[in-house]
Amino acid sequence: MKLDPSAVSEAVRRLAEGEVIGLPTETVYGLAADATNPRAVARIFEIKGRPSHHPLILHIASAGELAQWVRAVPPRAERLISQFWPGPLTLLLDKSERVPSEVTGGLSTVAVRVPAHPMALSVLRELGRPVAAPSANRFGSVSPTEAAHVLSDLGSRVAMVLDGGSAEVGLESTIVDLSRGEPRLVRPGGVSRQELEMALAEPVLSGDGSERAPGTLPSHYAPRAPLRLVGRGNLTEHLSELLSQMGASGGEKVGVVCFGQAPQLKDVRLLLRVLPPDLAMAARLLYSSLRALDAEGASVILSEVPPEDGIGLAMVDRLTRAAAPRS
Ligand code: TXA
Ligand code: MG
Repeated sequence: MKLDPSAVSEAVRRLAEGEVIGLPTETVYGLAADATNPRAVARIFEIKGRPSHHPLILHIASAGELAQWVRAVPPRAERLISQFWPGPLTLLLDKSERVPSEVTGGLSTVAVRVPAHPMALSVLRELGRPVAAPSANRFGSVSPTEAAHVLSDLGSRVAMVLDGGSAEVGLESTIVDLSRGEPRLVRPGGVSRQELEMALAEPVLSGDGSERAPGTLPSHYAPRAPLRLVGRGNLTEHLSELLSQMGASGGEKVGVVCFGQAPQLKDVRLLLRVLPPDLAMAARLLYSSLRALDAEGASVILSEVPPEDGIGLAMVDRLTRAAAPRS
């Protein structure tokens, strides 16, 4: 990917002026504002349509900056940081007084990560301050993995979108709570539970729901079309049943997301997205596939459940929330 220095400088200038921009990261695009400017941070919530007590992730330029923003850096954090930063891992730690309460939604903890994207890192270094950024989608919908997704969701409401290409991980960062002693997995993501446990040489507990994380609401990350999950191996059967109920007329279309293998069934009403069997590659394509099926007019989307190993756990988590009943 080429780094356009003039685009980066413009992004830095906008952020310094208190504006909100679309910022590429390796996980998903963020909706970024100067984290030290409470008015700019408040704009994020307005633009996103997100409740303002929801905490945001603080993005810093390097691990060396962490100590300013947290009360202490425990040994577990050191271990994870040396292995996974820059990268798709967010740590929850007790915040220092320097973190504005607007960023943490009034909580005493702060979520922090160093993104592994050259443009994001250049912006953070040149700005000389951290940015607060949620995913750059409208609240509750699928996170953007391309600049065009941000433009279509929020284009008229952001000062600019810095185009950093397709996000390499394609799913939001893993969030680990280190603020309460034993590590807890608050949100599975780009760094797998197995990798965390290897690095820490201890088990990582599941989140107990006490963390205030909107991404952990039952219904989230959803495409427009209703999504139904189908166990592996049952896709062809489910599809033929659904198609026979639909009838030939009406122009209704069924979106299909599957892993490695297409269903044994051909029908003009099917919109197929066969994702690669390699789960990391599939994760990269998952959100853009859901968006594309929406755009192509799917009236319902059936998705196979991927295996839960590695980043598969994060995919199952997001698909399950996307399929949950909506309020
Ligand atoms: O990959 C990512 O993490 C992307 C990119 C842009 O960095 N960001 C992202 O942000 O997914 P967002 O706001 O969509 O999700 C962040 C999650 C939310 O569920 C939020 O509630 C949780 O992190 N969170 C942030 N600060 C927290 C805190 N102090 N305690 C508990 N949860 C927190
Ligand atoms: Mg989000």
